Amino acid sequence: SISYLNGEYQPLSEARISPLDRGFLFGDGIYEVIPYYNGKSVGLMPHIERMINGLAAIEIKCTKTADEWKALLDDLVARNSDLAANLGVYVHISRGTDVKRYHAYPENVEPTVFAFTFPIKDPEPVDRAKVTQYSMISTEDLRWQRCHIKSTALLGNVIHFQEGYSSGNDEALLYNADGELTEGSSCNAFIVKDGVVITPIQDNQILPGITRRIILDSLRADGSLKVEERVVTMDEVRNADELWITSSSKEIAPVTQLDGKPVGNGEVGEVWEKAFQIYTDTKYD
Ligand code: PDD
Repeated sequence: SISYLNGEYQPLSEARISPLDRGFLFGDGIYEVIPYYNGKSVGLMPHIERMINGLAAIEIKCTKTADEWKALLDDLVARNSDLAANLGVYVHISRGTDVKRYHAYPENVEPTVFAFTFPIKDPEPVDRAKVTQYSMISTEDLRWQRCHIKSTALLGNVIHFQEGYSSGNDEALLYNADGELTEGSSCNAFIVKDGVVITPIQDNQILPGITRRIILDSLRADGSLKVEERVVTMDEVRNADELWITSSSKEIAPVTQLDGKPVGNGEVGEVWEKAFQIYTDTKYD
């Protein structure tokens, strides 16, 4: 596959960065993952805006406008169109390569800009009987207090994901010290109770997910389902009729097992099917 690195296109296997890059040494960078199905992107501009906000939040110089980012990513996808029909784009901007390892932000260092594409699966069928079901464990969220920044420093997320994975589950559902739901280790979370779709508010404890945003906007525009953004306790999660996790790669994935127990009646819910249909009808840019 063809990758982009600091203005140059080259095979991914040949792309090289310095070990003094601060992305490598400190996880000092911002990233995005954006899906393209048959060349059509989902949430591209919101992803770019979140990336620009993230760069500003950690004072990394942004070298391109939103439109320039869009052109770059669309072009990279076009160059890789022979790889697969559906591609994810990974884009990563680190603070750059310093001449020494030193914690302070260096001056006069250009950010490292790297992007590559990788094949992603077809969207899941909008069918309760056929969709892939997820199982999760729950565990206390022990990451940092700036989870709204899409940092490349993902060790906290990786440790939590591994807790789920090593116990034979697909993901880990996280809750704070007050027993309130935050998100998954690589996804946002929603519950359904008595037909109402509920998700935690957007604050420093969660990533402002683009899939989450598209779902909320499309459900509100449709109007047939009631939607709430509010604090969600783990008691509510354990008594929910449905549990979903959302991300650019998972779209809306139904979770039917939590900590070895069935969620609701243990089957994929009707509200999932309705919401996923609405999302599917409106998701493309
Ligand atoms: N993960 N929360 C966390 C901690 C995430 O890592 C992600 C995305 C999300 C969902 O955000 P979005 O809908 O914008 O993809 C929520 C990406 C896909 C990843 O790290 O691979």
